[in-house]
Amino acid sequence: MTHITALSTQSDSAVEALLDAAFGPGRQKRTAYAIRDGMLPVASLSFAALDGRDNMVGLLQSWPVALTDAAGKQHPLIMVGPVAVQPTLQQGGIGRKLMHRLMDEARARQCEPLIMIGDPEYYGRFFGFSAAGTAAWEVPGPVERHRLLAQSIDGSPLPGAGKLGPRVAGLRAAC
Ligand SMILES: CC(C)(COP(=O)(O)OP(=O)(O)OC[C@H]1O[C@@H](n2cnc3c(N)ncnc32)[C@H](O)[C@@H]1OP(=O)(O)O)[C@@H](O)C(=O)NCCC(=O)NCCS
Repeated sequence: MTHITALSTQSDSAVEALLDAAFGPGRQKRTAYAIRDGMLPVASLSFAALDGRDNMVGLLQSWPVALTDAAGKQHPLIMVGPVAVQPTLQQGGIGRKLMHRLMDEARARQCEPLIMIGDPEYYGRFFGFSAAGTAAWEVPGPVERHRLLAQSIDGSPLPGAGKLGPRVAGLRAAC
């Protein structure tokens, strides 16, 4: 039986080992890493999935990022991912459990809009993410546009156009 807890209960080395197992080498070169370069995870929106022996079998991290518009104004966003499940246990519901916990927490806290780079066949189908509002977002690296996903949590519209990147200090703290 898997249960979900705060990712801060796990060691950095265990987190890195699970990410290596799920994504393989070279993962740090992905565009998602450039978008949140230098940021620390949002603790309240980062989770570990533990098995019955309290071994970590899945994890989800979230990051404070922002879209900077043409006037230089930063619109705060939360970047979700990586979502990683131990390869031998994939397709068993652990990823969905982590994502449901994230969505529950984000809604309870009325967080900033969520964004992610991922498969719409998964994150759209189960969790309501869509690429519909992200077409005018510039990204610091290659991205397949249909995989740049977002959704508003508090009902406010997504920011229209600008460049995605790390969030500067001075904006209100992420959820
Ligand atoms: C993607 C991932 C997080 C999904 O978690 P999981 O625990 O393996 O999957 P779940 O059990 O929650 O979901 C299974 C269902 O989602 C579907 N699904 C899973 N991954 C999918 C994907 N990438 N695209 C489309 N559908 C997917 C399955 O077909 C299955 O559907 P079904 O119930 O109709 O049979 C996990 O497989 C993983 O860690 N993959 C490697 C790393 C990765 O690519 N992470 C995502 C990018 S951040």
